[in-house]
Amino acid sequence: MKPSTALPLPPQPAILIDSHLDAAQERSLADDVLDGLTRPFKELPPKHFYDARGAELFDRICDLPEYYPTRAERSILEQSATELAEITGAVELVELGSGTAAKTRVLLDALQAAGTLVRYIPVDVTESMVRDCAAELTSEYPGLRVHGVIGDFERHLHHIPPSSGPRIVAFLGGTIGNFPPGSRRRVLREIARLLKPGDHLLMGTDLVKDPDVLEAAYDDAQGVTAEFNRNVLHVLNRELQANFDPEDFDHVALFDRENEWIEMRLRARREIHSHVGDLDLAVHFREGEELRTEISAKFTPARLEGDLASADLELVRWLTDADGQFALTLSRPTASL
Ligand code: SAH
Ligand code: TRP
Repeated sequence: MKPSTALPLPPQPAILIDSHLDAAQERSLADDVLDGLTRPFKELPPKHFYDARGAELFDRICDLPEYYPTRAERSILEQSATELAEITGAVELVELGSGTAAKTRVLLDALQAAGTLVRYIPVDVTESMVRDCAAELTSEYPGLRVHGVIGDFERHLHHIPPSSGPRIVAFLGGTIGNFPPGSRRRVLREIARLLKPGDHLLMGTDLVKDPDVLEAAYDDAQGVTAEFNRNVLHVLNRELQANFDPEDFDHVALFDRENEWIEMRLRARREIHSHVGDLDLAVHFREGEELRTEISAKFTPARLEGDLASADLELVRWLTDADGQFALTLSRPTASL
């Protein structure tokens, strides 16, 4: 055997960022708008809320007195991060819809304290969020590598870099609840396919509770959520040359007791004739007509276990806050026989 003359590998850069937002992404907004605004019951998918302004408004929502989910999820993480680090032995944390990764730091702290943490992989459609969070986290956690993926977790999961050891895939903030039940199971199955034996999914879900508490969380007194809801119209005006006046619409949030989800809508205050320039599409709203912008499903343990099972995932830990408002679940691929 030759004596080893290999040079040491060049140090890995602390930050890598891949972007998958291209013309296809713009087409997806155009397709969604064409589809959604020509239906008998108008509807838009929620991912288009989050441009830079939307992301900032969402950050403010997280601090509102009425919006308990962020605080509840953070308290669960604070209670259980050490145990989660121990169970998973994770060297990598992949986070879907990472946003500002505010709560994620609790988990990163625990993984770092356990001495296993090597890499963080934030995945988000909002470019500025991924870039800012990569810069912040590499300076807060010396030695941490961040591989950011700017993309759509409904379409770009296959671009997530291969793992180099046990992984946690985190999907926090109740974002899974923003999909209707059918797509929810499809998205969960696709996420489950990312998991190798020894990997875990850590998912946050809001729980069914008093409708008054739920509705207040999505219709705050200061009107921040209303502004967030209307932001989707600002996005259409800018990206597709539409001419909506967001002030022509009222924010509506109501708990659908049969489906057990919050429904967010924009209701036309008067009859509106608008135009989406890039699609050459005329859009008509009757006075009082509503556009559905988002659902936020609320879970029971049975609903959650059913969803996990349908993705071949089995529950490892079911964690809730002291008031039982929110759940964090750790699950893993069901051992194949
Ligand atoms: N995880 C954070 C943020 C939740 S808000 C928290 O718990 O507070 C939802 C985040 O998901 C936003 O940052 C938004 O930009 C991102 N997002 C929404 N739909 C997405 C999609 N289809 N693909 C990738 N990111 C998405
Ligand atoms: N995932 C968050 C939730 O369902 C997103 C959210 C919070 C949201 N408040 C909102 C989305 C208001 C649209 C409008 O709780």
